[in-house]
Amino acid sequence: MPQDNVTLLIENIGQLITMDGPVPRIGPELSQLGLIDNGAVAISDRQVVAAGDADAVMQSITLDDDAIVVDADGAVVTPGFIDPHTHPVFAMTREKEFEMRIQGKSYMEIAKAGGGIRASVRDLRTTPREIITEKSRQRLDRILMFGVTTIEAKSGYGLSTESEIMTLEIIRDLNKSHPLDLVPTFLGAHEIPDEFQGRTDDYIDLVNNDMLPIVVRERLAEFSDIFTEDGVFDIEQSRRVQQAAREAGLALKFHADELTSLGGADLAAEMGAVSADHLVYISDAGIDAMARAGTVAVLLPGTTFALGHSQYAPARKMIEAGVAVSLSTDCNPGSSYTESLPLIISLAALQLKMTAAESISAVTVNAACAINRGGQLGQIIPGRQADITIWDIADYRELPYHYGINPARLVIKNGRVVVNNRLSGIVQ
Ligand code: NIG
Ligand code: FE
Repeated sequence: MPQDNVTLLIENIGQLITMDGPVPRIGPELSQLGLIDNGAVAISDRQVVAAGDADAVMQSITLDDDAIVVDADGAVVTPGFIDPHTHPVFAMTREKEFEMRIQGKSYMEIAKAGGGIRASVRDLRTTPREIITEKSRQRLDRILMFGVTTIEAKSGYGLSTESEIMTLEIIRDLNKSHPLDLVPTFLGAHEIPDEFQGRTDDYIDLVNNDMLPIVVRERLAEFSDIFTEDGVFDIEQSRRVQQAAREAGLALKFHADELTSLGGADLAAEMGAVSADHLVYISDAGIDAMARAGTVAVLLPGTTFALGHSQYAPARKMIEAGVAVSLSTDCNPGSSYTESLPLIISLAALQLKMTAAESISAVTVNAACAINRGGQLGQIIPGRQADITIWDIADYRELPYHYGINPARLVIKNGRVVVNNRLSGIVQ
């Protein structure tokens, strides 16, 4: 059947990575890219209508009179990447803490002394909404320019009813005005704010009884997340927060086993969480529980790197145990200040021992599952939203190998070219 109304055609693709195949990818499936040499992709309006071998695609389509034809010039083409764990709404940066850490202070020491997340909270509460919005928008621009087309975005630097709701409203408004799609997460339980120090249970009452009903009533979040960590929220407190969130209709995520082996992964699996993230100190029992529950593991090697730690999440063990593994930047002003998912793929290669193919699965189909979009995003097959990145490389294995640069050339969101990195650059 010829496909009429093709509005955008990508031709001359050296390696077309469709990600056709199992969702999520588990174990050896992570290496399946649905790779087609010499491919083409046809898009009608916002949707992929044909993708595959170039000759077959060309025979099956009719171009619109004013269709745009993009010559990929032998490049690699993938689904737009998905970043399933970001904290993009904040005002000030925390470079002084970064310097304190390289001089020997730990993340937790700084947090306990009133820095860390609480410092970002004090700052966000006193910064005008427009300024926070503008700074966040610039971060989204940078994320998009790195070939990412959808992110999960958390609140968590407000920690009062007013400031948490404002943060989620900023995420909602940016989702409307920015090409990136944002999937919102309520992270009221990110820390215990200054005014509730020593009264964690009272703060949980505020999160559950005051913030959560508004978040749900105003449809401001799909997920509820929590920082389950020694010195922040313990297992029982985390259960209390997440039980209320689940009953109110939110899906669950956890910051789990990041700095200590507290058992957050086990709790996430027990509660049927969609994902558990970080998992540097996950136990063997936690790995088994996540594999059985189908909870996605979102690994954040950029955080380990930027905290200057040497122990990384046991990715290979999780992959062998059948856990669906994903990757993310954790973009935030404290533990991992980067918008670059390609850099995370380099760290995943060197520190998690994940191949380029495994990492591409992790930031496409598996990242989609981590944000409850499995089978909707992360593939270039007919019927899918046309979110596509053309990379400045001829072999996908270059992605982790050429590190510290931006390998994205062209980003297509919903069938429209939204980034052309070739246009920016050196002035002659
Ligand atoms: O994922 N662990 C808690 N939250 C963030 C850090 C946030 C911050 O330091 O501002 C994380 O690492
Ligand atoms: Fe985080």
